[in-house]
Amino acid sequence: MCGIVGYVGSKQAYPILINGLYRLEYRGYDSAGIAIIDGDLKMYKTKGKVADLENFVSGKDIKGTIGIAHTRWATHGEPNDVNAHPHYSESKQLALIHNGIIENYASLKEELIQRNYTFKSETDTEVLVYLIEDIMEKEGVPLEEAVRIALNQVIGAYAIVVISKNDPDMLIAARKGSPMVVGIGDDDFYIASDATPIAEYTKEVIYLDDEEIVCVRKGEKIILKTIKNKVKTPYIQKLEMNLTALEKGGFEHFMLKEIYEQPTSILDSFRGRLDAKKGLVKLGGISDYEQKMAKAKRIIIIACGTSWHAGLVGEYLFEDLARIPVEVEYASEFRYRNPVLNEDDIIIAISQSGETADTLAAIQLAKSKGATIIGICNVVGSSIPRTTHAGTYTHAGPEIGVASTKAFTAQVTVLTLMALRMAQMKGTIEKSKFHHLLYELESIPSKVEEALKVDEQIKELARIFTFARNFLYLGRGYNFPVALEGALKLKEISYIHAEGYPAAEMKHGPIALIDREMPVVVIATNKGTYDKVVSNIQEVKARNGRIIAIVTKGDTAVKELADYVIEVPETDELFVPLVATIPLQLLSYHIAVMRECNVDQPRNLAKSVTVE
Ligand code: G6P
Repeated sequence: MCGIVGYVGSKQAYPILINGLYRLEYRGYDSAGIAIIDGDLKMYKTKGKVADLENFVSGKDIKGTIGIAHTRWATHGEPNDVNAHPHYSESKQLALIHNGIIENYASLKEELIQRNYTFKSETDTEVLVYLIEDIMEKEGVPLEEAVRIALNQVIGAYAIVVISKNDPDMLIAARKGSPMVVGIGDDDFYIASDATPIAEYTKEVIYLDDEEIVCVRKGEKIILKTIKNKVKTPYIQKLEMNLTALEKGGFEHFMLKEIYEQPTSILDSFRGRLDAKKGLVKLGGISDYEQKMAKAKRIIIIACGTSWHAGLVGEYLFEDLARIPVEVEYASEFRYRNPVLNEDDIIIAISQSGETADTLAAIQLAKSKGATIIGICNVVGSSIPRTTHAGTYTHAGPEIGVASTKAFTAQVTVLTLMALRMAQMKGTIEKSKFHHLLYELESIPSKVEEALKVDEQIKELARIFTFARNFLYLGRGYNFPVALEGALKLKEISYIHAEGYPAAEMKHGPIALIDREMPVVVIATNKGTYDKVVSNIQEVKARNGRIIAIVTKGDTAVKELADYVIEVPETDELFVPLVATIPLQLLSYHIAVMRECNVDQPRNLAKSVTVE
């Protein structure tokens, strides 16, 4: 949550900072602000989005070659101008931006108040910048040392950047539990919460580790140390990020673009890892651990949100194909439940951003009990892949729309590859079936391409149901997670209450809600429990519910019953989630557009949830 950008060098900072904020806006959009040194340390901040900030500063001549900028997802203090970042120190010599939560801010604040400091905002962040200045004054140390001392007093998570009016060529940044990337230019430096604002300026980056502080000065070498004062050698990596992936590319929204990217993103997630002709599934990132995985008595999948839904599909796949028992856990519950874990356990942590705080904390817990942690992440270099023992990137490319789409199908694809590989190693799958499934998986991108062709038809449906107040999504087997994901997408971006349910469980509760006003989306593809789902549809019809059915091309039985039918291409039951999710993503998208909701930046949500 919260996006951070910083720049120091010879270029004008403002355009770099404002563009960076636009790139990071998916992280939070309650308020935005910029601090720039132009002789004086100037600050511009406002409630609202980055565009509001741009309006706010329009006409002002903002100059300076060093600055910091922030887009906020409020934690402490409501989203308003005062609570917006950056925050000044009391003397206004320093400005600081922060992502994360200072958990002991109340006691630190109390101490500072007793020493006559007056706070202007309700944020935990202001406490930190006051504390840094206090240490500088009290102990007579330079800023970088004061930051280090202050961070040793802080409990919680942070990614911070600080600038000082008295040292206008220096940026100081530090992180713990919140991501931070430093970009190295010719004689300049870029700092950001993720690489998206940096990619257009440099390909050389350093990902900070927890409890590291970096001090960068225009034209000078980076100084990297830990908050315990241990000097470290920066590890410079090549950034592989395609700039076109950061643009809407002619689409009205990032979400729509990302939905349409799925034939390619699914292909990218198995490219080089799957060769049907040779009967090969190869996941280089986990090869050292695959023996252990195959022998595991159980696998525990931990994730949040959409990634958790992908995990559920993973459960079906691993159990079906590789006969390994799987538990799928919400990271936020798992970590507080005193789970029974041991050294034989394999944990698969799934996360698009690689930064979700609850997932990270669950990983730490499992690691402390000796479990082996395998990651499935999308953002290269993010915190989770750097914490796990091994892992596989999904390679779906940057996902900017807050509602996850292509990351989900990429996660499911990687889970499928893992399950197939385990099945092959364990001999739990017949050779002919294994080969058939590999060929089928290779054909999924073209089937997704075909599934996207229902877009116009979905638009019509969206028109009919734009103002529905509730939606029910039903599915069984592999289609149950699809139902959950369809409902989540609708909730997230159109603010319509929607529930996903196992179709057969409907009769234990949700059936009471069904009447003429209740659209019921049933994923009724032709494999698995098809006949049972047809019975469930009949139960809904008998109560006048309106059925929108997702069926396999050529279906007849459901067509007779359903009010509206959307066809998806035929595929093996195991791969149905990859095609059946597509129309549900489109349905939520079009309904949200018709309701005039902000599709890419739905209210209250953030793409990367770095608070617990
Ligand atoms: C947030 C996002 C969701 C995402 C979830 C987990 O809630 O809005 O789209 O599914 O976090 O995020 P992760 O990055 O761990 O997959």
